[in-house]
Amino acid sequence: MKIAVLASGNGSNFEALANAVRNGEIPAKIDLLFSDHQDAYVLKRAEKFQIPSESFELKEFENKAAYEYALLNLLKKNQIDLVILAGYMRIVGEKLLQAFPKRIINIHPALLPSFPGLHGIKDAFEAGVAETGVTVHYVDSGVDTGPVIAQEKVIIDKNDTLEILEEKIHAVEHGLYPAVIAKIIKELGHETCAD
Ligand code: GAR
Repeated sequence: MKIAVLASGNGSNFEALANAVRNGEIPAKIDLLFSDHQDAYVLKRAEKFQIPSESFELKEFENKAAYEYALLNLLKKNQIDLVILAGYMRIVGEKLLQAFPKRIINIHPALLPSFPGLHGIKDAFEAGVAETGVTVHYVDSGVDTGPVIAQEKVIIDKNDTLEILEEKIHAVEHGLYPAVIAKIIKELGHETCAD
């Protein structure tokens, strides 16, 4: 089972996954970290964990299809079986979805289908809802759609600021994502993507 994590920015979820690998909670290693931003902090985190990383940006390519093709080639070259999105802020294209059926997983900081998109935490906060949460789901061609694998609620207290809510959500993400990924890897066993 070869695993790639795709991330665009800070990488705190990547770090939670890398820690879970290190402490044995996830029974596999992360073989590759890809970032679509060359200056993303997640690349520094990969270096710290000595996880191989690659980075290129959409703007280096003629169009989105060419970017996706390069990404697909990178994953194939590394014989990746499971793709974990951790703050990867792009829609996954059809070619990638076809190459990894039910093998691309995402985490989103809201209780989907509520508050999809780039600002799940802020949108829930501003909507004034009493609870929000975290969703782990299989990726399809939509924005934060696709079958839900697991959800965990987070209560929004009256006194919570957006910053406090962000901290609460991230704390839940850092527990939930490694646990769900560990379970998925155990269920997949030694199956490769080619099986
Ligand atoms: C996380 O909260 C993740 O759920 C969110 O981006 C953040 C990345 O943080 N993803 C989405 O909003 C996907 N639509 P991180 O870089 O510190 O892991």
